[in-house]
Amino acid sequence: AAPALQGAGSVKQQISNLVALSLRATVPEVDVEPIVEVCTGKFGDYQCNNAMGLWSKVKGSGTSFKNPNAIGQAIAKNLPACDVIESASVAGPGFVNIVLSKSWVAKRIQDMLVNGITTWAPILPVKRVVLDFSSPNIAKEMHVGHLRSTIIGDTLARMFEFSNVEVLRRNHVGDWGTQFGMLIEFLFEKFPNWEELGSQAIGDLQVFYKASKQRFDEDAEFKDRAQQAVVRLQGGEEKYRAAWKKICEISRNEFDQVYKLLDVQLEEKGESFYNPYIPQVLEKLSSQGLIEESEGARVIFIQGHQIPLIVVKRDGGFNYASTDLAALWYRLNVEKAEWIIYVTDVGQQQHFDMFFKAARMAGWLPDPKEKKFPKTSHVGFGLVLGADGKRFRTRSTEVVRLGDLLDEAKSRSKSELLQRLTENGKIVDWTDEELEQTSKAVGYGAVKYADLKNNRLTNYTFSFDQMLSDKGNTAVYLQYAHARICSIIRKSNMDVEELKVSGNISLAHPDERVLGLYLIRYAEIVEEACTNLLPSVLCEYLYNLSEMFTRFYTNCQVVGSPEEPSRLLLCEATAVVMRQCFQLLGITPVYKL
Ligand code: ARG
Repeated sequence: AAPALQGAGSVKQQISNLVALSLRATVPEVDVEPIVEVCTGKFGDYQCNNAMGLWSKVKGSGTSFKNPNAIGQAIAKNLPACDVIESASVAGPGFVNIVLSKSWVAKRIQDMLVNGITTWAPILPVKRVVLDFSSPNIAKEMHVGHLRSTIIGDTLARMFEFSNVEVLRRNHVGDWGTQFGMLIEFLFEKFPNWEELGSQAIGDLQVFYKASKQRFDEDAEFKDRAQQAVVRLQGGEEKYRAAWKKICEISRNEFDQVYKLLDVQLEEKGESFYNPYIPQVLEKLSSQGLIEESEGARVIFIQGHQIPLIVVKRDGGFNYASTDLAALWYRLNVEKAEWIIYVTDVGQQQHFDMFFKAARMAGWLPDPKEKKFPKTSHVGFGLVLGADGKRFRTRSTEVVRLGDLLDEAKSRSKSELLQRLTENGKIVDWTDEELEQTSKAVGYGAVKYADLKNNRLTNYTFSFDQMLSDKGNTAVYLQYAHARICSIIRKSNMDVEELKVSGNISLAHPDERVLGLYLIRYAEIVEEACTNLLPSVLCEYLYNLSEMFTRFYTNCQVVGSPEEPSRLLLCEATAVVMRQCFQLLGITPVYKL
């Protein structure tokens, strides 16, 4: 077996390391970071773009180089001899085009097949990340926006985890605030035996919320009681704490059902968790002179913003911002996270912008220009629209129930699958269990992928027809592509497991080489998706990969050809990489379709 290249990082990182050595030899007097990109032209696979920048640094300093091209030539010449690079040539003002050695590419793929895809994990500059995602509000139904946050957040978590970063998956549920006064009083009124209530007994919590709100708005006496209930709850009175807990528990049960369907892990640390930390955190900010009095409230004035960040309301209560400041303090100082990432709709951008700035003013975070850790990021996303171009809703309810939505995706994909299998006469090969599992994987996968493939900042239109189509850039198409590769492997009489160890990959045909090169880019794609917090980058890669596979398969016969052993390994490697992409996207791959 080939020796494991574990820990070596992405191909781009490895090339960068070689380029760094060359730069040191070429211009020892200047200290620069290697600039390496994937080549878009046909003269190389990767490209080093340092020459021009270096030229502007050394010219006029008595350097022996005549122009940027000469620096490029020297960089190319000084690349250390190794089995990675086959050749390097220089174009125009010093672009160094690097061609990778075919045998190295082949070896890297084979090595992955033997030692597992984890050897292709990129190396990221962080060890611990807090990922704040999903974060619905108690007693209010989880809506499609929370679905987006859940799906995007989970994928980011999976990508970081794959890259050996510890991820604290945090569900920052809205479980605190004045609405609890009215909910608690309404609970007492409607369910005198509330203590014995099971988690389902209240029925629809959203309806319960609305009814209590109506009561609150219409009855002054009730309103009064509700307001007192808030005070008693916050004062820690036992009965009120217990009622609050009950309501949270019922909500949690509903949320958990959705998480289970989506196969998403989350640890709940709701707003209430950070409540005890707020006074001390505000005290610190106050002693730094950051908090001022304004119109009865306590606020932080932030440069570039007209309105200040309110941290204590006029009635003395804390709010969303005070909780977020305390949570950030906790995440930095107790949890020691280096990167804190928040996934919410773009509508909250200003809130995040302001409290991140406040944290910088307090010296908790370095200036973002320094590109240092710890750092915070807001991962914003657009709206989910219905066919009418308006915010996505269903006829019966104002908001879309996530459970129903996933159910529908599953049953639609099941009926399509049934129809196709019946037409092909293949239905006999399928057990009920297989049908069920497959439609679930395809249906849920379609919902997730339709969300993830878009640039997250844009709004996207929710359409079952589109996401469940087997044509175009959809999860269904990709599931088919993967299943087809699996069936090619099954059709061959050769044993792939044995070939992994004893066989050899050759990349003689141009389409084989293109596919091989794209496969080994996997790590740098994950790296890019993590660095820029963009799951769509991974979707695009997955889609391109399947297109490249199709080209390879169209032009290179696999089963029954003299190249079968090598090509079968390429099929297997493609399937492995595709499955790993699916895994990171939270999609269950299917092996037959
Ligand atoms: N509960 C909020 C909402 O539904 C999202 C919370 C996001 N996280 C945070 N730390 N602010 O909009």
